[in-house]
Amino acid sequence: MKGPPHGVAVLDLEPAASDFLEQAIAGFSASPRTLPSKFFYDERGSDLFQEICELPEYYVTRTETEILRQHGTEIAESIGENAELVGFGTGAGVKTRLLLDHLQNLIAYVPVDISKQRLTESAEALSREMPNLEILPVCADYLQPFELPTPSREPAHIAVYFPGSTIGNMEPPVARHFLERVARLCGHSGGLIIGVDLQKSKEVLEAAYNDSAGVTAAFNLNMLDRANRELEADFDLSQWRHRAVYNDQAHRIEMHLVSGQAQTVHLGEYAFDFAAGEKIITEFSYKHTIEGFSALAASAGFQLARVWTDPRKLFAVFHFITL
Ligand code: AVI
Repeated sequence: MKGPPHGVAVLDLEPAASDFLEQAIAGFSASPRTLPSKFFYDERGSDLFQEICELPEYYVTRTETEILRQHGTEIAESIGENAELVGFGTGAGVKTRLLLDHLQNLIAYVPVDISKQRLTESAEALSREMPNLEILPVCADYLQPFELPTPSREPAHIAVYFPGSTIGNMEPPVARHFLERVARLCGHSGGLIIGVDLQKSKEVLEAAYNDSAGVTAAFNLNMLDRANRELEADFDLSQWRHRAVYNDQAHRIEMHLVSGQAQTVHLGEYAFDFAAGEKIITEFSYKHTIEGFSALAASAGFQLARVWTDPRKLFAVFHFITL
């Protein structure tokens, strides 16, 4: 499967059809009401997220990319030679390329993604650009346990790459549990390269999640539109508004959808009453400190090797290792 001219074989562990209805009913039966953020990412939501990454207020993607541009060589040196790189949700994006281009004697690249289409397209594009790299795509939910494929050459160690501060969308106990599983997946002498958004002023954070072009609002409201399309729901989108606030006690951005009036919404045969001003929590985005995140990773079995930040200390890229 090395550098195939006509596509790459995908190891298909794709999860069963979405449990959106079940989780929406559970979330609307809770107090406060919730909808899990993973349901943002249908086709339209994924397109809107791409737009968010390019917004002037959303510093996250730009800053992480800049750190990789500035420190790609050092990061690759810290990871070491003869690695198998496992990318969670990475595809063939700019950040991944910056890392792949610098790694010495890379044994294989294993991109893992829940979307088979995105995975196949990005693996094929990468295979055309890096024909000598062994690419072993796995279609799986990396938040759940899964098996790694075996490369044709044996790697000296496994390094997991998890960019984008997606870890910030997990509550700390969930993040810890996830990191424990990553530590097990990469085994002895393994590594984790992870991008983490840092704590900063409320103004900068709230601007990033309340952009002036209204793209984040459209991204948030798309969850209701998706429910209308997929769950026979009857949300009147004009009666809901996007809100993002920084909770500085919990160090997290909270994204809400706020009901503009008292209203009843149906999900198929189920009916839910919402009061005027009532919120649905759609996402938490935790912001960490370097010390705090290092301690969280240490509690999951990782030791800090190195960390890189930008001059304004907005974002950090960590390299953790297992012993
Ligand atoms: C994917 N994740 C890291 C983004 C974040 O910043 O928490 C999702 C996002 N939500 C609104 N804007 C971006």
